[in-house]
Amino acid sequence: MAQNLSEYLGAVLRSTVGVALALSICNAGLVAYVPLAMVTILIMVAIYRLSPLHPLYGFPGPVLYRISELPMFYHALRGTRHVLVKGFHDTYGSIVRTGPNTVSLTSMDAIRQIYTSSHALNKTTAYDMHSIKGEGLFFIKDKATHVRRRRIWNRSFSEEALSGYRGSMVSQIQNLMHWLLKRSEQDGKVDLVKIFPQYAYDSTNAVFFSGHAFSQSLLDSDDAEHIVAEASGYFAAFEFLGHAQPIFPILKHLPGISKFLKFETLATIAAERRFKNGPTFRDGISYWLEGDGGQPKLTYDDLPIESETVLIGGSDTVGAISTFAMYFLLANPKWVELLRQELDGTFHRDSINDHLDVLDKLVLLNAFVQETLRLGMPFSGLPRIVPPDGLFVNGRYIPKGICVNVPIWTHHVDETYYPNAYTFDPTRWIKDGTYSGSANVILTFGAGAFNCVGSKLAYAQLRILLANLLMHLDFTATSDFDAARFWNGVRNCRATSFLEPLCVRVVPRKH
Ligand code: HEM
Repeated sequence: MAQNLSEYLGAVLRSTVGVALALSICNAGLVAYVPLAMVTILIMVAIYRLSPLHPLYGFPGPVLYRISELPMFYHALRGTRHVLVKGFHDTYGSIVRTGPNTVSLTSMDAIRQIYTSSHALNKTTAYDMHSIKGEGLFFIKDKATHVRRRRIWNRSFSEEALSGYRGSMVSQIQNLMHWLLKRSEQDGKVDLVKIFPQYAYDSTNAVFFSGHAFSQSLLDSDDAEHIVAEASGYFAAFEFLGHAQPIFPILKHLPGISKFLKFETLATIAAERRFKNGPTFRDGISYWLEGDGGQPKLTYDDLPIESETVLIGGSDTVGAISTFAMYFLLANPKWVELLRQELDGTFHRDSINDHLDVLDKLVLLNAFVQETLRLGMPFSGLPRIVPPDGLFVNGRYIPKGICVNVPIWTHHVDETYYPNAYTFDPTRWIKDGTYSGSANVILTFGAGAFNCVGSKLAYAQLRILLANLLMHLDFTATSDFDAARFWNGVRNCRATSFLEPLCVRVVPRKH
């Protein structure tokens, strides 16, 4: 009742101010009044957002962030939101108002209610930030519609599909090893921050598009067409524009912003090329278009938007996580020895790719991958919208229409769940000599109905990549490697970026 009253009064206040100002401007007829009117509106909006009339009145949080989205927009642009939000939770507790209409929550109950329960919430309009046509899995906000499209995608991640992709995955890893050696030999070092994303886009291209997505391999051409930069620029724009949703239809036409959206054109061309050339084996897109046994299948109209999703979703993420994995190895060299002992005790060096099934049984390798996925996820949250009935969580009632999320990074460095949370320690995933991690314990792949459809592929890819790199190559960090400096340069705005290079010398493994 009180809730409805405050919403009602808020709406009355907003419309009264709007009408009064509009009338005064019209009556005065003077352009000079426009700035004054704008400032007055902004002040009134700020007062309303801090006042008891606002539905989130009384929720703890920093004043500036309660008034405006702009400070969060700024941190999204800088890539520092994950650290900022973690600091807010340290100060204010498990429930924080991080925006005028946004609440950030930490607790297992919040994860359950927002993401995993049968009443889990729908996505917010932040997922509308695209201009490419068609309906795409990642962008669908409503669970009921989403589940139908998800069935089509699930086919491309079945056990049968994943084992069919192995040959392509291995040949991309072999090409990566070739270029690691070659660039290191040519230049005396190779920057892993640059080369891993190139490999990741090549791998997604090979597995889903039979290699037709781009005119050339990114590794072979050293990304001559700047695909990685276009894609991560798009991914970041998607994220920070989420803080300016109401004006996106205008913003997307501005030259600076439309440049960010160029990847949409590249994805559309990728879809056309794959459709025209057809598959060279049963690739990921084949599963979408086939519609086995009367199952629904993807129409061509939706192929561009789904191509964009798989190219970025499957590559930007894997490129960043692979970089983190190498960083953790360089910063914790004892893990190079431990993983090699495990691999050498299991495989002959030259036959590893004939026994890939065995990799998911290796305790240390899996623990290492899981710990990398925990600390290599500097992401601040996956926004969801509170339904008409509201939400009671962390001891508070949150009214309808509010955006809620659980910040992944904050959860991953929460001492309650991960003691010595900032220490890279894969043994935390080993109990009684057995690997005991599971995708549900960490939020790296999201959770619930909208979780990452590609997580199994990502796990497989990371295991195969690490096993091959450790078995075949020796890496030495260049003398300017500074683990703390690299770590402090990690940024995230959906896309993870690294301000510092990660340069190594690479030679064939000696012993
Ligand atoms: C380490 C690698 C990966 C990470 C960290 C990751 C992370 C995530 C996260 C957090 C989400 C939820 C996004 C949200 O709710 O806003 C997600 C969704 C998604 N991911 Fe991944 N992902 C990875 C690999 C992959 C791969 C390899 C693919 C495909 C080849 C993929 C495709 C997708 C798609 C299509 C979605 C949307 C799923 C849906 O809405 O049903 N991801 N991913």
